[in-house]
Amino acid sequence: MSMAIIVHGGAGTITSDRAEIARAGCREAALIGWRILENGGSALEAVEAAVRALEDNPNYNAGKGACLTVDGRIELDAGIMDGKKLSVGAVACVEYIKNPISLARKVMESPYVLLVGRGAQEFALEQGIPQCSFGDLLTERQYKRWKEAQSTGVDAEEEPRYHRREVTPGSPRNEEKHGTVGAVAIDTSGVLAAATSTGGIFNQYPGRVGDTPLVGCGFYADENAAISCTGQGEDFARLLIAKRAADFVAGGVSARDAAEAAIALLGAKAEGTGGLIVVDRPGNVGFAWNSENMAHAFMTEGLDEPITGV
Ligand code: GLY
Repeated sequence: MSMAIIVHGGAGTITSDRAEIARAGCREAALIGWRILENGGSALEAVEAAVRALEDNPNYNAGKGACLTVDGRIELDAGIMDGKKLSVGAVACVEYIKNPISLARKVMESPYVLLVGRGAQEFALEQGIPQCSFGDLLTERQYKRWKEAQSTGVDAEEEPRYHRREVTPGSPRNEEKHGTVGAVAIDTSGVLAAATSTGGIFNQYPGRVGDTPLVGCGFYADENAAISCTGQGEDFARLLIAKRAADFVAGGVSARDAAEAAIALLGAKAEGTGGLIVVDRPGNVGFAWNSENMAHAFMTEGLDEPITGV
């Protein structure tokens, strides 16, 4: 079986000064996952490790570097799926967890599919996952952005060269830079897996949950394909975009065409913006987005270096 891995660092607007940073982090994450695959590791291990690397990288909206809610908290969501067993684990609205994707993996190994909030945090402690501090997750960049939005009502990062976008606290439509991260892979045994992690959307209402921890919405994996999404989560959730992309592949469509068809559907049915990555059983990768950018990187057999893009 052909191995492959593709990762994304979020769809939205990536300004030119941040493009190289976004690309480099994806490259590093893809290589971390690829080395696991090359050494005989599973697709599940590869996508978890790749997403952990992106969570640890302060330049993405997941783990360290996640955006703040309107009341100044960091609430994290993540989901992971093994396409062979159809086993799923997800967490939503967790605080003080450095790597939510690894907590989602623990949920996957439990009788549950999704744990949220306080229960998820108690579960983390039971599983030996320590709490981190707020400061371990907070970056100066996200704090400044939040502080400015509270005092001026505008998001300082929203296309600053052209205009400053007004921020209404709690309105999900105000953030168009979707920094969700994700990875999908196929291993030498032909097993597919998907993983996705996010801090949600900037200035979101406390308790708001998007597509990222919802199976079939922000991520999905089965025997044919694995998918991870990034974008305005409400739109991905109402259209079950990840599952739709998997169904396109099951119907005989290539990974690339499935990604494009799913994004076309998102735009046509919900006027939604974002992107997604797909890997299929033959080891082909696909990706598509309808926002300005989507940071991504992939490794497939025959490549010496990851191919990256934004
Ligand atoms: N796609 C991430 C979110 O909407 O929360």
